Amino acid sequence: MTDGPTSKTLKLHVKTFGCQMNVYDSERMAEALAPAGYALTEEMDDADLVILNTCHIREKAAEKVYSELGRVRQMKETRASGGKETMVAVAGCVAQAEGAEIMRRANVVDLVVGPQSYHQLPDLVAKARGASGVLATDFPTEDKFDHLPARTMKRALPSAFVTVQEGCDKFCTFCVVPYTRGAEFSRPVSQLVQETESLAQGGVREITLLGQNVNAYHGEGPDGKDWSLADLLRRLAEIPGIERLRYTTSHPRDMADDLIAVHGDEPKVMPYLHLPFQAGADRMLKAMNRKHTAEEYRELIGRIRAARPDIALSTDIIVGFPGETDADFEETVALVREIGFAQAFSFKYSARPGTPASTLEDQVPEEAKKERLRVLQDVIEDERKRFEQALVGRTVPVLFERKGRKPGQIAGRSPYLQAVHSEGPESLLGEIVEVDITAAGPNSLTGVINSGFAWDDRVQPAV
Ligand code: 5AD
Ligand code: SF4
Repeated sequence: MTDGPTSKTLKLHVKTFGCQMNVYDSERMAEALAPAGYALTEEMDDADLVILNTCHIREKAAEKVYSELGRVRQMKETRASGGKETMVAVAGCVAQAEGAEIMRRANVVDLVVGPQSYHQLPDLVAKARGASGVLATDFPTEDKFDHLPARTMKRALPSAFVTVQEGCDKFCTFCVVPYTRGAEFSRPVSQLVQETESLAQGGVREITLLGQNVNAYHGEGPDGKDWSLADLLRRLAEIPGIERLRYTTSHPRDMADDLIAVHGDEPKVMPYLHLPFQAGADRMLKAMNRKHTAEEYRELIGRIRAARPDIALSTDIIVGFPGETDADFEETVALVREIGFAQAFSFKYSARPGTPASTLEDQVPEEAKKERLRVLQDVIEDERKRFEQALVGRTVPVLFERKGRKPGQIAGRSPYLQAVHSEGPESLLGEIVEVDITAAGPNSLTGVINSGFAWDDRVQPAV
């Protein structure tokens, strides 16, 4: 037998930047490379193949790639002096947007691979081994999901991501996604049912459906018709073992009535919704090409809360979009206060090459952006605390996922997505257990397993 890549174990290290879709993609890349003999390692220094899975959404995120490549170069040189070869690949949205530029600027890189080509990784890696740099950033005609291996691995965590939709047709004027991830595409329902069933068989209890514009999902159903996200959620809720469903990220314009209704009548759909509004002033929303007004957003939240009164709301907000005045910013703060978000992510506007907003005059000075972000984050933090404080004294079901930091502690998530810590046996990992919330700390809630819950009965005898 030859000493080819399949006859010895090679080590793969994947470093993930950016959003949850990249976390999912990193996992699928590792699965795609497993048949070629690659096993994951946590240590970059041990890796025969390093993949940086990158994010292009804001300038800071994109810059991280080049500084990380500096570190990778040193590591590659150190390994080379010990006679070890290291392949370096750049994947994700920076790869897609700046592929040729990466090749030019960083000769440490052997392979640049865009998000639509991950199924070709074993071939691309083999090709890169004998070449001076391979660039794979086309949008291939075949569906990568048809070619990626099934997700049959035993799962370490009871919670998993499933990408159901990719790309975006909305063209918000600040955003690179329509360019890096391309046009909207929804995976067919049968493929998603199969993937979710395999995950459930591997021990997964909670699935988060991912998409850049997930609620625009319109995949082919088994009846040949287009199914909505609501239809998909109802179908996945039938899969034995799946107890919790979530989805992210949504656009207000695609928050259809059937989806709002699911929040009211499908108990497996968790009471949590991430619904970016980006800015509170209509003038800004128009310049951003958001296709909704502040009043439409307010009214939508009203309908969602009517269907599910306890829903935890989350959002994304940009401060300092070109032309934003103090008065516009005040409208953002007012809307945040009025709605009362359980969580919110806020960003300083960052001009992205190729997007319409990047060439607008009237860019807001860095100092003003910084100050607005500080003010906004204080308001967001107040509201987060208020939401969490309101849970103290209540009993909530917690899906325990991992050991806590302190001995004897386990950690999981509430239906509203807060981290919850509690004393409890490890046998409860993967279980949903009622917890009395006793305190709200800066990063997590603390609770006591409800005495009415006979968890002792569930502890498996040691074998
Ligand atoms: N500048 C700042 N924030 C941005 N986002 C997207 N593009 C930009 C940009 N150019 C934010 C939006 C989006 C989140 C994922 O990132 O709020 O919802
Ligand atoms: Fe970007 Fe989201 Fe707007 Fe699409 S909807 S362009 S992904 S911010």
